[in-house]
Amino acid sequence: MNRLAGKNALITGAARGIGLAFAKAYIDEGAQVMIGDIDLPRAQAAAGDIGAVTVKMDVTDHASIDAAVAETIAAFGQIDILVNNAAVFTAAPITEIKDADFQRVFDINVAGTLFTLQAVARHMIARGIKGKIVNMASQAGRRGEPLVAVYCASKAAVISLTQSAGLNLIEHGINVNAISPGVVDGEHWDEVDAFFAKYEGKSPGQKKVEVGTAVPYGRIGKAEDLTGMAVFLASDDADYVVAQTYNVDGGQWMS
Ligand SMILES: NC(=O)c1ccc[n+]([C@@H]2O[C@H](COP(=O)([O-])OP(=O)(O)OC[C@H]3O[C@@H](n4cnc5c(N)ncnc54)[C@H](O)[C@@H]3O)[C@@H](O)[C@H]2O)c1
Repeated sequence: MNRLAGKNALITGAARGIGLAFAKAYIDEGAQVMIGDIDLPRAQAAAGDIGAVTVKMDVTDHASIDAAVAETIAAFGQIDILVNNAAVFTAAPITEIKDADFQRVFDINVAGTLFTLQAVARHMIARGIKGKIVNMASQAGRRGEPLVAVYCASKAAVISLTQSAGLNLIEHGINVNAISPGVVDGEHWDEVDAFFAKYEGKSPGQKKVEVGTAVPYGRIGKAEDLTGMAVFLASDDADYVVAQTYNVDGGQWMS
């Protein structure tokens, strides 16, 4: 307990799912948490339950990023921890990928991660804050999948950005690392399941059962399975951890 006492965190896309579990875990460890999400009503409803505060934030919009960073600093005094968690999923055969879907996924998952990281890193450097930045990658970024080219490529980009930013920012004492989950139950995977039902002719829920059964640990992941790594990477215990992406996936991937 209290491994994040006195720390202030901004977590993007934390109105639900994994980001919300991280917000709760960080608060349980003594941090103050700002949830930045495009879905403000959902964020506000969730934040009230755990003692977080909220800001409406669209990670594809530089002005919105800057405003959310400024509001977090105004609320807490400074930002010590950033979690780049906001992301969207899409799936389609290569021959059916739409330019608009590609742009949307890369705008949110890749540009959103980079430019939120940039805005917070500028603040940390200006204030001399030895901060922690955690990016959300995916096992999808470790290899391609036949129907998931765009999302897989976006998460490979997050792993690469984590390496470059990690190596660039450690001279300022800022640690940048990433978490690579496998399959985590929740609304996100309900949406993933719907894509596979469409393209693989599966019945609703079938793909989720199949992928969950295939996890070496023996079940599909829960958001809470990831919070230990998220707290570690945000804590002083991770000072010597630089530019890494950690698989937290029940044994699905090794690299
Ligand atoms: N659930 C999984 O199985 C899984 C597996 C691997 C990686 N991940 C990654 O973990 C992270 C969290 O996943 P999740 O399952 O909780 O996702 P989720 O879909 O449940 O939550 C995503 C959140 O991001 C927000 N968001 C979307 N667009 C935004 C924008 N432009 N600006 C700000 N917020 C925006 C949404 O409102 C939502 O609250 C994501 O980066 C995801 O890619 C998830």
